[in-house]
Amino acid sequence: MWLETFFPHVKLHEWQAEILGALAEPQNLRCAVVAPRGSGKTKLLAIICLWHLTVNPDSLVLAISPIWRQVETLREELRSLWSASPRLRSLFPAWEILADGISTNVPGWRLVLASAVVAANLEGGHSTGAALVVVDEAAQLPDGHFNSLQGTLTTHNSRLFVSSTAGAPSGFLHRAFRGDFWYWDKTFLFAAGQIPHLAEQFRREKSRLGEDDPHIRRQWNSEFVDVSESSIFSPELIEGVVGLEPDENDLHGRGAPRVRRLGWDPARSGDSSALCMTVGSRVERFDILPSVDLLIQVGLVVQYIHARRIADIAVDSIGLGNAVCSRLAEQLVGLHRICAHEHRVVPFNASHRAFDAEKYANKKTELLLGLMRLMQDRSVGLPAREGDQVQHLERLTRELSGMKLLETFRGASRVEDPATSPDLADSLLVALSLREGLASKGGARMLPLIEAGF
Ligand SMILES: Nc1ncnc2c1ncn2[C@@H]1O[C@H](COP(=O)(O)OP(=O)(O)O)[C@@H](O)[C@H]1O
Ligand SMILES: [Mg+2]
Repeated sequence: MWLETFFPHVKLHEWQAEILGALAEPQNLRCAVVAPRGSGKTKLLAIICLWHLTVNPDSLVLAISPIWRQVETLREELRSLWSASPRLRSLFPAWEILADGISTNVPGWRLVLASAVVAANLEGGHSTGAALVVVDEAAQLPDGHFNSLQGTLTTHNSRLFVSSTAGAPSGFLHRAFRGDFWYWDKTFLFAAGQIPHLAEQFRREKSRLGEDDPHIRRQWNSEFVDVSESSIFSPELIEGVVGLEPDENDLHGRGAPRVRRLGWDPARSGDSSALCMTVGSRVERFDILPSVDLLIQVGLVVQYIHARRIADIAVDSIGLGNAVCSRLAEQLVGLHRICAHEHRVVPFNASHRAFDAEKYANKKTELLLGLMRLMQDRSVGLPAREGDQVQHLERLTRELSGMKLLETFRGASRVEDPATSPDLADSLLVALSLREGLASKGGARMLPLIEAGF
């Protein structure tokens, strides 16, 4: 009723309507909902906040998210609801949406937006009327912070509503579904299969990672499981681009010469020295150098570059790589004098800062997830299963599927290598670092030697 009055244009998803229906019952004061990302939790939270604030003059609404960026999402939902309801605005002309809440101009009657990062935000919120505390992404809120919120819930008929995607199998939200039934009046758990607008994306992700992947179980099936480790590449995903020639579908670039590039991951003790040659969007071939002295390897790579008319070369510069890189550049300058081909040699360091450092813990992670997207879009090709590439592809598949994605404390992603050194995968990443738009911005630099025009 309230919703139709103020927001006649909002058509709730079925699961959202079910929850609002339950909240209308006076006995359901403490509710928790777990549903996948993108299902509409934050928007529902904004609706609940406005509902409580409008029908409870003199109440405090405290809206908490674990970090400020999530608070801002909720504020934008509040703002868009507010501006879409002329009726609400005319009934409450004194209300103002501020950066950190809603002011009603009546003391004690307000909505406060806060992140849990500042502990003081969680305590001392006093309400004369029935308070409402909402927590978005509640699985990320530590128990200690949740306990601090209880102080605000002492007023008669105060409400608590928390929503989240599923999290690790611990903490207050997990217990809400596993035994703390005495505390909660109602809990809701929706999997992506129950939410029609997520069906297509769910299906794609499931075929990419497999049904048993912890990431799928947590993000989409709303199960509380550990996903501290999840794999990024499934064998099916890799198989989908074996022998693929993406540039052939590119009508504009058809027939245009493709840049020939080389990624080299020089061996450190015990590893193989791996080469990955790409032509345009396609990996032409992988090669493993014989384990000979690094200086001899440089000589072999120079011949390789010359024979295959390669233009751009990236070399993994961690450890000895920097010296190798300079040596190679030097040799190519010599070659340049003979064959008039210009070469670009670029050192690549996987542990350097990512272009988008907020999302990725390092360049390697950024490139790997870039590679994953290229594979999903079929915009990258791997060599056909022929000759010596058969065994290289097998090894690459093993290496890539052994990589795990971890989440750092700050919410950035970080890739962890499998136990044995993934040499072919690394050479592929080194080659990819030369491809524009894939974290190479700002990262690629020519060696001074080449820049000086030797
Ligand atoms: N009932 C609805 N009708 C139309 N759009 C909706 C509805 N519920 C949510 N949305 C929109 O869908 C998107 C995802 O919703 P959001 O609340 O951010 O999901 P979640 O918090 O579960 O990740 C947002 O753009 C939001 O405005
Ligand atoms: Mg949300």
